[in-house]
Amino acid sequence: MHIQSLYLTFFRNYEALQIDFVQGVNCITGKNGAGKTNILDALHFLAMTRGFRSSQDKQAIKEAESFFLIAGAWEKAGDMHNLQCNFMAGKGKKIVLNGKPLEKFSEHIGNLPLVAVLPSDTELINGGGTVRREFVDSLISQYNRIYLQQLILYKKCLEQRNALLKSFAENRYFDKEQLTLWNTQIIPAGRYIWAERANFLKDFLPIFENYFHKIVSQSEKPTISYESKIKENTAQEWQSLLEENEMRDRVNQNSSIGTHKDDWSFLIHDISAKHYGSQGQQKTFTIALKLGQYDLLAQQKGFPPLLLLDDIFDKLDNYRLESIADILDKHIEGQVFITDTSYERLAGVFAHSKREVKFFEVEKGKIK
Ligand SMILES: Nc1ncnc2c1ncn2[C@@H]1O[C@H](COP(=O)(O)OP(=O)(O)O)[C@@H](O)[C@H]1O
Ligand SMILES: [Mg+2]
Repeated sequence: MHIQSLYLTFFRNYEALQIDFVQGVNCITGKNGAGKTNILDALHFLAMTRGFRSSQDKQAIKEAESFFLIAGAWEKAGDMHNLQCNFMAGKGKKIVLNGKPLEKFSEHIGNLPLVAVLPSDTELINGGGTVRREFVDSLISQYNRIYLQQLILYKKCLEQRNALLKSFAENRYFDKEQLTLWNTQIIPAGRYIWAERANFLKDFLPIFENYFHKIVSQSEKPTISYESKIKENTAQEWQSLLEENEMRDRVNQNSSIGTHKDDWSFLIHDISAKHYGSQGQQKTFTIALKLGQYDLLAQQKGFPPLLLLDDIFDKLDNYRLESIADILDKHIEGQVFITDTSYERLAGVFAHSKREVKFFEVEKGKIK
């Protein structure tokens, strides 16, 4: 699977752009603010129906314009596919896949599996649980469509349950039956999500540790553990936890029990990576998380996903830079898109690569 071409109209700092990519490694260089990350962002739209920087599509429209259009074509198992993503101010987003408008954008998730390594990834360590849940959910959703459906269903039911708790409080009444109705919908979806998250970690952990040790010495021992208020994941356990916390939920007008509260702790030598790590160590941890995501997706899909690497060599010492360059050369078989301010650094990293490498230089929203 690989993306052949990308067309942009009024997307961020691009007025009109057409690029043809190679199947191997696509290097995008240019000064800060030139528009390198914006190209990766557009590729993220193609694969995930949204950008990676903000959930607000409107901000992606080029200043003073009223719409943006992203179009791309890719080859998969010998067949050509294409997608157009059009966002119009005031009208919203329309996505057309192979000539057919998508009713639900989630239908497309998993068609173009993608892993993005971004400077903001340190949020995975330093940010709140939402960031880690998004990481895990996006990973599993790309290989398990039922998981994504259950996640959407769970979220909908949870919103309804919270709205009900709020209306109880506002109207000073309580109807146990109504609450139970939402509980019985939340439980099966939640149990599915919990079980898949537990399965995921079993598969993911050895892959992650392997990458971590490829980047740093064997003596550093990283671990990830799944933190959930749910332990057994039986319907009875869910039921009794919901019951026990009912009074609290009514007071807070919010649901305190469920997989929406799950989290993962990241440890190095049993110390939280947040407190343990230097910037470089935290970066190693997050790169290993993302490369682990890459391998797990490749394993589950049966072909390698797209890999976006945004400015990863910035702030890395030479030792780590070489380890990562070695991984890219030996272990990454799919199409790669990599940005860097330094042409020389990327040219050095891929100087002896056996893969096809193409360089693009970006300047003020144009390819030179
Ligand atoms: N909606 C937009 N309209 C016009 N310019 C934008 C928009 N969104 C971002 N930009 C511009 O894009 C540039 C940043 O592009 P980016 O891809 O992040 O650069 P870099 O090459 O450093 O990765 C900035 O100059 C920013 O002002
Ligand atoms: Mg950038």
